[in-house]
Amino acid sequence: MFAQIESILQKIGAVLLAIVGTFSSLLGLGPGGIPEEAATEDTLCYTIAIVSDTHIDNAAAAAMLDAGLRDISADYLDTDAVLFLGDCTDNGNVENWETFTNSVTKNCTVENKIVILGNHDTWTSYDTPHDYDEALNNYLTYSNTIMGTNHTTPYFTCEFSGYSFIVLASEDTSVSAEVSYEQLSWADEQLAAAAAKSSGKPIFVLMHQPLNYTHAVGDNKDNNGFSNNETSKKLQAILDKYENVFYLSGHQHYGLNDGSSAYNYPYGFTTVEHVGENITSVNLPSFIYPSMIYGGDPLAGDGLVLNIYADRVELLGRNFIAQGWLDYTATVPLKSAAD
Ligand SMILES: [Fe+2]
Repeated sequence: MFAQIESILQKIGAVLLAIVGTFSSLLGLGPGGIPEEAATEDTLCYTIAIVSDTHIDNAAAAAMLDAGLRDISADYLDTDAVLFLGDCTDNGNVENWETFTNSVTKNCTVENKIVILGNHDTWTSYDTPHDYDEALNNYLTYSNTIMGTNHTTPYFTCEFSGYSFIVLASEDTSVSAEVSYEQLSWADEQLAAAAAKSSGKPIFVLMHQPLNYTHAVGDNKDNNGFSNNETSKKLQAILDKYENVFYLSGHQHYGLNDGSSAYNYPYGFTTVEHVGENITSVNLPSFIYPSMIYGGDPLAGDGLVLNIYADRVELLGRNFIAQGWLDYTATVPLKSAAD
């Protein structure tokens, strides 16, 4: 049912893409540039653009991604890195990945890119059972091409300009995440290494699915976060040992939301949530599907720009297709190394 609604919304989004240039001024979406309240250029250290759930499987979807990536790559945003938080493709088959990869390589001129695995990327068709190994091989082939890497597993680390990115991934084809204790132990080691050299910089942990009991996810019965509630708890405890951890996820397809929406989510939802002592949990809307039925934007193309300053991270909602800022901002103070 939701898949049909989302398919219809995607088609509507493609039509809106064609007319949005004409009407963007009516929507209050300017041609770009940092909003005045965030324009303290003297301390701006690094800028990250994030999109999630692009679900690429046809030319109309690719055209929307093309437009978004041209905005992300434009001089006025001065983007240092781009993160794709999974469900990059709708099916994870070769045709989908070819379309996604062509869009990125032709339209994204930002050098530093991270492509992570989502549950849709672990399928090669909608028929079950899915073949994880085949899907993983497709993901590794195309994500390595985009990133210029040679990864052999879906979990890995990157470091750009002294900022650590720790990428986690499900090890099964299920909608909810299946993460082994071996991967959790590896993540703990990587976080410890990143924290030792962070000097008060944020540490980014990227995973398609949110932790359980965050971002409207309940326990495993809700079939959306982590299949094993204990795994989610263990990961949360590991993340919370380290300061300035930002856990970035997608998967939910909900709109940018500061908690003021009247939409009745089962466990509540805000885009930025504070978990434990040290974790800032950020959940991205779907780029390809408009999210107005989930309390968000009527246009496809939403994502976030993170501006990192010496003492804080500012998160700015942006519609990358309409090339305009959205009425969503959040600021998270950073704990300094001296605290
Ligand atoms: Fe998705």
